[in-house]
Amino acid sequence: MSVLPGSSADAIEQAAQRLKQGGLVALPTETVYGLAARADDDAAVAQIFATKGRPSDHPLIVHVLGRDEALAFAAELNDAAERLIAAFWPGPVTVIVRRASGRAAAAAAGLPTLALRCPAHAVARAVLTRCAQLGISGLAAPSANRFGHVSPTTAAHVSDEFGESLMVLDGGASELGIESAIVDCSGAAPVLLRPGVITREQLERALGVALHEPDERSAPAPGTLDSHYAPRATLRLMSSREMKEALQVLPATIKGLAVYSRSAPRRHPLVRVMPDDPLAVAQELFAVLRMFDDQGVKLIWVEQPPDTPQWEGVNDRLQRAAAP
Ligand code: TXA
Ligand code: MG
Repeated sequence: MSVLPGSSADAIEQAAQRLKQGGLVALPTETVYGLAARADDDAAVAQIFATKGRPSDHPLIVHVLGRDEALAFAAELNDAAERLIAAFWPGPVTVIVRRASGRAAAAAAGLPTLALRCPAHAVARAVLTRCAQLGISGLAAPSANRFGHVSPTTAAHVSDEFGESLMVLDGGASELGIESAIVDCSGAAPVLLRPGVITREQLERALGVALHEPDERSAPAPGTLDSHYAPRATLRLMSSREMKEALQVLPATIKGLAVYSRSAPRRHPLVRVMPDDPLAVAQELFAVLRMFDDQGVKLIWVEQPPDTPQWEGVNDRLQRAAAP
């Protein structure tokens, strides 16, 4: 079993049946791979927490086919939520709304709010469509990695995390590569809790108002802002100047060190040249960190990308990965 081709109708059917019975299936999305269970079954959702080693007070995102299916889980969709849904669904923007009472309580970790996302990936949509036919309207799915580790962007990354017993649908390498932007729409003003590849400017244009900064009220979930998304190796973020200076004195081979940098010369064996384009870096970032870990390095030097809105999602993940 383990990895099945997401393009096969038979595999979609097997996955939907497994989900219906309360089992877990790892699915590709356009951002990262998710570890899914039916959102209306608290025992199935509890298995996600156990499998990931995730604290049960850390809420999950519920994935739906579209706005109509979101209505089953939301107490209301206010103006901010409606605008984001109209502009970006299906796609990599998650909205947090007030939760309909009694719906998806375990996925929400008991919070009065719920995170809803409508994925664009064809395989995720095929599974959601078949699940809907079987009477299941939403799938709880966090990223398919152990708690604190970097998110998986290929089916092989998922198998590496959880072994062969988990059913994984293979939908190729994730096109976007970092997790969805999360906008908390449950309060008086929308708050960006996690940046993604959709920029702050794009979100604000759709909302028609400015995003507010997170505060204690808007981030009730422990770990929402400080979870690490970290490789096993220690990651050090360096300015372009620090990187240039360090590379000048670096011998051609250094044991246990990998470098991810725009300015790096290729003569070093463990140097990976960072693309200039934020979308290209987002797409490969987690795979590059996993590759360095697989090579057994102890230290990863990363050149800090520019501090501009286009790089916000990538910079956020790099800062988390570098956090002590
Ligand atoms: O792109 C994505 O969003 C991926 C794919 C699989 O869809 N999913 C994902 O899920 O990144 P996860 O569970 O790894 O990250 C969800 C984040 C967590 O940091 C969680 O604390 C936050 O969303 N979250 C979920 N529900 C929340 C809520 N009601 N209030 C505040 N934060 C919430
Ligand atoms: Mg995650």
